[in-house]
Amino acid sequence: MTALLELQDLKVHFPGRGGRSAPVTRAVDGVSLTIHQGETVAVVGESGCGKSTTGNAALGLAPVTGGRILFEGRDLATLRPAERRALWQQMQVVFQDPVSALNPRMSIARSIAEPLVINGWPADKVRARVDELMELVGLNPDQRDRRPTALSGGQRQRVVIARALALSPKLVICDEPVSALDVSIQSQILNLLLRLQRDLGLSYLFISHDLSVVRHIADRVCVMYLGIVVEEGPVTEVFAHPHHPYTRALISAIPRPDVSRRDRGSRILLKGDLPSPLNPPPGCPFSTRCPKAMPECSAARPPLEQIGKDRQVRCIAPD
Ligand SMILES: Nc1ncnc2c1ncn2[C@@H]1O[C@H](COP(=O)(O)OP(=O)(O)OP(=O)(O)O)[C@@H](O)[C@H]1O
Ligand code: SF4
Ligand SMILES: [Mg+2]
Repeated sequence: MTALLELQDLKVHFPGRGGRSAPVTRAVDGVSLTIHQGETVAVVGESGCGKSTTGNAALGLAPVTGGRILFEGRDLATLRPAERRALWQQMQVVFQDPVSALNPRMSIARSIAEPLVINGWPADKVRARVDELMELVGLNPDQRDRRPTALSGGQRQRVVIARALALSPKLVICDEPVSALDVSIQSQILNLLLRLQRDLGLSYLFISHDLSVVRHIADRVCVMYLGIVVEEGPVTEVFAHPHHPYTRALISAIPRPDVSRRDRGSRILLKGDLPSPLNPPPGCPFSTRCPKAMPECSAARPPLEQIGKDRQVRCIAPD
């Protein structure tokens, strides 16, 4: 399989307020991940762990402090601006909130057409492409003149997806794409994303805090904690046998209405809050909350180590 997007030791540090001596926010602090063509890689973790910043950096929406971003083997930092812009057309994004993503004064056809118009498509081709895109995402082209306010939340997210697909990207970064939707609508949108992937050969970087959703949609999962990846591997294997104590805790918290309370196993409750990325704990960043923490965990950040064929874990005493 061809590697479509590769992040190599990506770092995004935001400068602190109050001059050069102010502490920086280490939003992303050395993330490596690879997405192959046709694959869905999920990034999961608590609020503030750096999921969106990782996606935004790939899209050129967050400043890269260190590391490399490669798309089809080409390092974005070494490209001329025009080449980089052309490459970014291959990477589109769907954010969580379709309300703020769409201009309420524009018809949905105009919103979908925007990237085509910006790229100089002639009017007749734009109209035909918009109709095609609306049908592709399950919208009736007769609704083209409606405003977003006349649509349901699920329909609005379909409009956002249609717009993201307008220029036929290879990769779509989905940042919590169903979190703002009712549960009944969530599965419709997830199934739409799966169908589009099958029909168009798309790849997804799928950012979510909801592990049930990730289990449904992703091939591989990267678990992030305080700006770093603590575990990575195929979804089925990571969910069945989590190696990192943080992954175990996240998985133990997934609601399982299909399983009786007795068979669900006990939920692992983590003590304390996520530490601030302004001042991460020394050594293993999870040491302040880890049920297995030992004094040696605070000595140095554990490396991300290969376990088996295609699993990686960052812990000195993995399960
Ligand atoms: N533009 C910015 N300037 C300064 N700090 C930022 C900026 N964007 C994000 N951060 C900080 O970087 C860290 C990671 O934020 P990010 O939005 O990537 O987290 P997240 O995992 O997507 O969280 P959520 O699940 O809430 O969306 C947070 O501490 C956040 O406050
Ligand atoms: S290195 Fe130590 S603190 Fe970190 S996850 Fe492993 S056992 Fe827990
Ligand atoms: Mg986010």
